Amino acid sequence: MNNSDDLESKTFIASLNRSREIERDIAINPSGYRVLTGDRPTGNLHIGHLFGSLQNRVRFQNAGVRTFIVIADYQVLTDRESAGDIAGNIVELVIDYLASGLDPENENTSIFPHSHIPELNQLLVPFLFLVSKSELDRNPTVKEEISAAGLKNINAGMYVYPVHQAADILSVKGNIVPVGKDQLPHLELCRLIARRFNRRFGGKGVFPEPEALLSSSPNILGLDGTQKMSKSRNNAIFLNSTADDTAKLIKRAKTDSIRAIYYDPVTRPEVSNLLHLVSLTTGEDADSVAARIGDGGSAKLKQILTESLNGRLAPIRKRRQELEHEEQYILDVLSRGIQRARTEAERTLREVRRAMNMEFDVLT
Ligand code: TRP
Repeated sequence: MNNSDDLESKTFIASLNRSREIERDIAINPSGYRVLTGDRPTGNLHIGHLFGSLQNRVRFQNAGVRTFIVIADYQVLTDRESAGDIAGNIVELVIDYLASGLDPENENTSIFPHSHIPELNQLLVPFLFLVSKSELDRNPTVKEEISAAGLKNINAGMYVYPVHQAADILSVKGNIVPVGKDQLPHLELCRLIARRFNRRFGGKGVFPEPEALLSSSPNILGLDGTQKMSKSRNNAIFLNSTADDTAKLIKRAKTDSIRAIYYDPVTRPEVSNLLHLVSLTTGEDADSVAARIGDGGSAKLKQILTESLNGRLAPIRKRRQELEHEEQYILDVLSRGIQRARTEAERTLREVRRAMNMEFDVLT
C-alpha cells in the first residue's frame, strides 16, 4: 500500500464512522435531514442496487426523512454519443423504484429527472466559477470512467458532470447523500462548492455542506465472485428477471473445488459472495448460513440462495409486472416529483441570485 492508498483508506474509514453516527441521529431526528441521491437511467436495476442502495432509501423514507431521488438523464451523455431510449429507460427505472418500496404517495418522497428542472440546471452556471480546471482534471472517478469507456474523444460534460451533480444536491439543499465509495470525490467537490459559495457570496450561508452516507454492506460482487455486480459485466441478477432465469444464473455461478462451505472472502471470494447474498436476503449472518450447509457443498449453497433470493424478489417482481401496465401512473409520479423538486430549486435559485447581487425587482 503506498501513501496515497493509505490516505484514501483512512478517509474511507472516517467516512464510514461518520456514516454510522449520522444513521443514529437520523433515527432520532428525521426532520433535520434531507436526502438526495440518484441513478443514471442506463438500464434495469439489479440486486446490487437493491441491497446496496434501494433498501436504504426505503428505510429513510419510512423513517420520515424527505428523500429526493434524481434520475440523472443528462449524465448518461458523459460517456456515449446517444442516450438511446432515454424516456423509456426513465419509466423502467421508476418501475424498479416503486416495486422496491419507494412510495410517491408518501409526501416525503420525490422522484424526478434533472432535465426537467430548469432552475437546477441554471445553478450549474454560477457553480462553474467556483471550481478550477485542475480540480476537475484530478477527479479519480472521472478518470476511471474515461478509461473504462475507452473514450478517445472526451466531451466537456464528462469533466463537468460532478459540478452538475452538486447542482442536483444543492438545488434541494440536500444535506445527506447516500452513495458508494466511487462517489466520494464528487461529494467532496460538492462540499467545496457549497463552502466557497457561502464564503464568497453567502453571508450567513446559503448552502449546507452535504455529507456522504456510505452503506454498511460491503461491495456486492457479481456471480463471477471477483468483480462488482454490474450490467456491463454480465454478472448480475436483475429485479425484472424471472425466478427461472435467476435459478439458472445461480447454477452457473463460479465456486471452487472445496466441498466444505465456510465464509472467507479472502481465500474463497466466490463462495463467500454467495453466502453474503444469502445473508443479505435473509438477515442471517454468513457464518451461520455456512455452518448450516457444512459438507453440503456448493450445490446446497446455490439451492439455498436460489430459494431465499427468489422468495425475497417475488413481491417486487409481482409489483413490477403490475406497474408495467400502469404507464399513466408512472407519468403522474414523475410529474409530482418534478413539481416538488422545482419548487425547491426555484427557491434556491432566487436565494443564489440575491446572494450574488444579481436580483432585480423588475424581473423574475
Ligand atoms: N453519479 C451517480 C451515479 O452514477 C448518479 C447521480 C447523479 C447522483 N446525481 C447525483 C448520486 C447526486 C448522488 C447525488 O450513480
